[in-house]
Amino acid sequence: MKDLLPLLLIPLAAGFRRNDFAAAAPVSNNMTDHHMMSDAMPSDDMMPHTMPPTGMAPNGVTPTGMTPNGMTPNGMTPNGMTPTGMTPTGMTPNGMTPNGMTPNGMTPNGMTPNGMTPNGMTPNGRYQLPPLPYDYDALEPYIDEETMRVHHDGHHRKYVDELNKALSKYPRLFNLTLEELLRNPNRLPSDIAEDVVNNGGGHYNHTFFWQIMSPEGGGRPDGNLSAAINRTFGSFDSFKNTFKETALDLFGSGWTWLLKDDSGNLRLATTRNQNTPIPLGFRPIIALDVWEHAYYLKHQNDRGAYIDDWFNVVDWDQAEELYNM
Ligand SMILES: [Fe+2]
Repeated sequence: MKDLLPLLLIPLAAGFRRNDFAAAAPVSNNMTDHHMMSDAMPSDDMMPHTMPPTGMAPNGVTPTGMTPNGMTPNGMTPNGMTPTGMTPTGMTPNGMTPNGMTPNGMTPNGMTPNGMTPNGMTPNGRYQLPPLPYDYDALEPYIDEETMRVHHDGHHRKYVDELNKALSKYPRLFNLTLEELLRNPNRLPSDIAEDVVNNGGGHYNHTFFWQIMSPEGGGRPDGNLSAAINRTFGSFDSFKNTFKETALDLFGSGWTWLLKDDSGNLRLATTRNQNTPIPLGFRPIIALDVWEHAYYLKHQNDRGAYIDDWFNVVDWDQAEELYNM
């Protein structure tokens, strides 16, 4: 693809599956008959001679195997629940967590806690601006509050609005995920293809960008990602320098990416404008917005200073999770 400029020819590829949430199968509610104790109590002439007069074995267990308070010896109720009504794994009988979420953090109807579907849609099938995962000033002093407000509330919102506007001409396209829309843009209706690539890409890229930054970011990765970076670039410092040079060399507006292929190998790449790495099937690990709107208010035309500051907020824990997926 002409807009993707892989700078290192290291093997790579992998679908971006951050939204591949699978609904957890509910745990069956294996309720048992509460009459089992009384019905199963043996008559006196059935009592073993080793039992005390109360009909209990020396270890305090009744002939039905229950303790006097109706619990099994391991502290469970007859239907296998803990005294608080939870299953041994801490779930409610219908397989939900105590706060009513499924084990993967979704509400029972498959929505995220902020009311979005897993692919960032509102319940009526329209795209919606996701809230920042932190306060506007949380990335100070590296990324300033004013830039974050304009960038998120202004630029990102415009991409979302324009994407909805373009897709409204062909409402059936709202049934596709954002990744599906962007994977084969040449299959889109020709009169909206460019708008979907630009604005759908803008929505995808910025949603990823907010999530790969954190007030607790900075430092360097560890674990598998650190090993892969060292294997590919020689060292973390060498990686940072190469990433920075790649971003500085991008003429005009676009994005710089660290990507992973199916073999776990890393590559650097740039995409122009709001193009995404989705068509290549590579999984994003980190991404840097190199549009001037991302830094001009604070860093003016000093893109290098912006890149240096940005490395202080990169969420390497999130990057490690993405790498390990
Ligand atoms: Fe941006």
